[in-house]
Order: sequence, then structure tokens, then C-alpha cells
Amino acid sequence: MAVRRSAGGYCFVFQPRHPHRNRCQYTQPAPSTTKPFNWQQQWYPVAIIDDLDPTKPHPTTLLNKNLVLWYDGTTWNAFLDRCPHRLAALSEGRVEDNKLQCAYHGYEFASSGACVRVPNAADAKSHANALASPRACVESFPTRQARGLLWVWGDSATLELAAATDLVMDDFAEEYVPVGPVLDTMEPFARTVPCMRGVLSSVVFCIYIHLCPHFLIR
Ligand code: FES
Repeated sequence: MAVRRSAGGYCFVFQPRHPHRNRCQYTQPAPSTTKPFNWQQQWYPVAIIDDLDPTKPHPTTLLNKNLVLWYDGTTWNAFLDRCPHRLAALSEGRVEDNKLQCAYHGYEFASSGACVRVPNAADAKSHANALASPRACVESFPTRQARGLLWVWGDSATLELAAATDLVMDDFAEEYVPVGPVLDTMEPFARTVPCMRGVLSSVVFCIYIHLCPHFLIR
């Protein structure tokens, strides 16, 4: 195959013996009408829930964003791991009274991402003003718990789309996602060698993570 320039542009299928050899026989494919895949607006499994300690925050990374996972007594939450006050890592803070507390100046955040306490406010009025400021909110990502996994939506700005989008694994029967049963099967071995439970969990989780992109591109 030769590549030659023709009046209409580059010719990618040039046949020397063809009578109309100067005509480009390459035809442009019709423009695609499907929407490009948006990697941010998808659900991703980020942790095995059994491996998370609900009494403390956990740092993780999703799509090159540093997140902190924490439990508010009812559900797991995913925040950007950056305090809106002085940008400290919230994963270095603590969970206090079902709120996430920053380790540096003690600001506290509810599961919605709203700041609910500013300890260094001078008086009640400045405290109320600080809480009312949108800049005091931390970026919060939608989460779901399913199949023993914590799932995080990759875009904090599309809550309605997240609520309307099924997890990719919803199309598959429970037996296709044997994370829990697999770990249960391995439990006797894991009890014998205590540190192996974490290792086995990580291996199963890695397999799961690598399968997901395959299921996403359907
Ligand atoms: S940096 Fe988080 S409260 Fe100041």
C-alpha cells in the first residue's frame, strides 16, 4: 500500500494499475453519533468495605484525585482529601461524632460536605458567616455500597446522573462477583496466617478492578 497526496487530501489506498489511480479511494467514515465515553461520570469500586475501619478516615486515589473515605455512622462518604481552610489532608484528621474533623484547625464537615463547626471563629456571628460560605464546603463525591464494595462516582458535580446510573456489575448475576464468597473460602487459610487476609483481599480486589474496564466497554 502506498500513500500519496491527491487533490482531496492524502490517498491511503493507492492502486498503481487502476485506471482512475489519481482518485483517492479512501472514503471518510461517517461521523460517530455516539457520545464519547466520559471516564469521570462512572461508578468505580475503590475499597472492600470489610477492610475499612469505620472509626478513622482512609486516603485513596481515584482518577488521579486524592480522596478520603470515612464513615458517618450510616454510610461511607468520599471527599476530596483537601480541607477548604488551608488545604490540609483530611485523611490525617479524625472521625468525631459522625463528622470528619480536620487535624489542623479542627474544622468539622458533615457527610454532605458542608462545614458544621469552625472552632476558631471569634463569635457566634462570624461562626455563622463562616458556615454559610460556599468556600467552606469540601468537595463530596456520591458513593454506593454493593457486593461488599464501596463505589465512588468520579464526578462531584453530576449527582443526579450518578443516582440514575446503575453500577456496571448490576447486569451480572451475584455469582459473577464472588468477592465475599472467595474471601470466605480463604478465611481458614487467612486465620492461620493473619497477615494473609489483607494480601488476599488485595489480590481479589485487583482482579476485580482489572475486570471492570472490560465490563465498562460494552
Ligand atoms: S487546614 Fe483544615 S481546618 Fe485549617
